[in-house]
Amino acid sequence: MPSLIEYVRDVFRKLDEKHFKILRVIEENSSRYEVVPKEVIISSSGIGPRAEKLLKKLHEYRLIWAPLGLERGFCLNYNGLDLLALKSLVDRNIIESLGKPLGIGKEADVYDAMSPKGERLAVKFFRIGRTSFKKYERHRTALLSAHSYMAASIKSAAQEYRALKILYPRGVKVPKPIARNRHIIVTEFFQGIEVASAQYLTDPLKILGDILENVKMAYDAGVVHSDLSAYNVLVTPEEEILIIDWPQWVKPSHPMAKSYLRRDISSLLKFFKRKWKIGELPENYLNIIRALCGETFLTS
Ligand SMILES: Nc1ncnc2c1ncn2[C@@H]1O[C@H](COP(=O)(O)OP(=O)(O)O)[C@@H](O)[C@H]1O
Ligand SMILES: [Mg+2]
Repeated sequence: MPSLIEYVRDVFRKLDEKHFKILRVIEENSSRYEVVPKEVIISSSGIGPRAEKLLKKLHEYRLIWAPLGLERGFCLNYNGLDLLALKSLVDRNIIESLGKPLGIGKEADVYDAMSPKGERLAVKFFRIGRTSFKKYERHRTALLSAHSYMAASIKSAAQEYRALKILYPRGVKVPKPIARNRHIIVTEFFQGIEVASAQYLTDPLKILGDILENVKMAYDAGVVHSDLSAYNVLVTPEEEILIIDWPQWVKPSHPMAKSYLRRDISSLLKFFKRKWKIGELPENYLNIIRALCGETFLTS
C-alpha cells in the first residue's frame, strides 16, 4: 500500500490542466451544492463533452466522490483538495518535491519538502475530520460534514499562518512562514525533536526559560498559543527551541485568553517538573510567569 502522500504524488503526475480545471469547478461550487451536479460541472468547465471522461478519471483516482452515483454529481475529498493546493504551490515555485512524513497527527500531517532552490521545507496539511474514502462513500450523512471539515481545515491553516506572520518578524522562535494555500502551510524546515521526547538536554532549565520568554514575547505581540505543551516545542541538537502548532491561538483580549495562557504555562511547568525535576524557578522566570498569569497563579 503506498502512503497517502505517495499516492497523491503519483496521481499529480497523471493530471493535466483540464483535470485541475474540473477539480476547481467542483471546489468553487461546493458551498452552493451538497453534491455538485454533473451538468453544472460540465457546463462551467467549458471543456465540452470530454469533461465527462475527465470526471470519470478523477473519480477513479479518488480525488472526487459520487455519493449519489456517478450520474448525479460529485464532491471534492481531501485527496482532491491536496492536489489543488499542491498544484498551486508548485505553480508558484514554492515547492518542488514532497518527501517523508515528519509528523502524522490527529488533525494534521507534516511532510518534509524541497523548494526549487533546494531549500528544505516543512509542509503541513490540515486534516480535520479525516476519515477513509470508503467510509465517506458508505455514509450518506458524512456528506455535509465532509465539506465543513475541509472548510475548517482551510480556516485552521489560515489562522496558523496568520500567527506565524505576526510572530516570526518579531523574533519569536517559530518556523519562518513561507506560503499558504487552502489547507496547507509551508514553513522552513527545522532540524529537531519534540521537547517531550528529548532524552538528553544539557540545560533543561535554560530550555524552560527560553520557552517562557518566547511565550511572553508572543503575548506582547498579541498571540496566546492555547495548545502549548512539550509536544509543540521542538529543540535542535544545539538546543535552540522552536514553538510550533498555532492554529488555535487567541488574542489576549479573548474572554478565555487568560485561562488558556494559564493552562499553557502550567502544562509546561508540570512537564519540566516531572521529567527534569525542575521545581525551584529563578526569580526572572517567576516574574515572567506572574506577569502572564497573575500574582496568585504560582501559589494556587
Ligand atoms: N517546521 C518544522 N520542521 C520540522 N518538523 C516539523 C516542523 N513543523 C512540524 N514538524 C513535525 O511535525 C509534527 C506535527 O506538527 P504540528 O504543527 O505540531 O501539528 P499537529 O500536532 O497538529 O499534528 C511536529 O511535532 C514535528 O515533529
Ligand atoms: Mg502538535
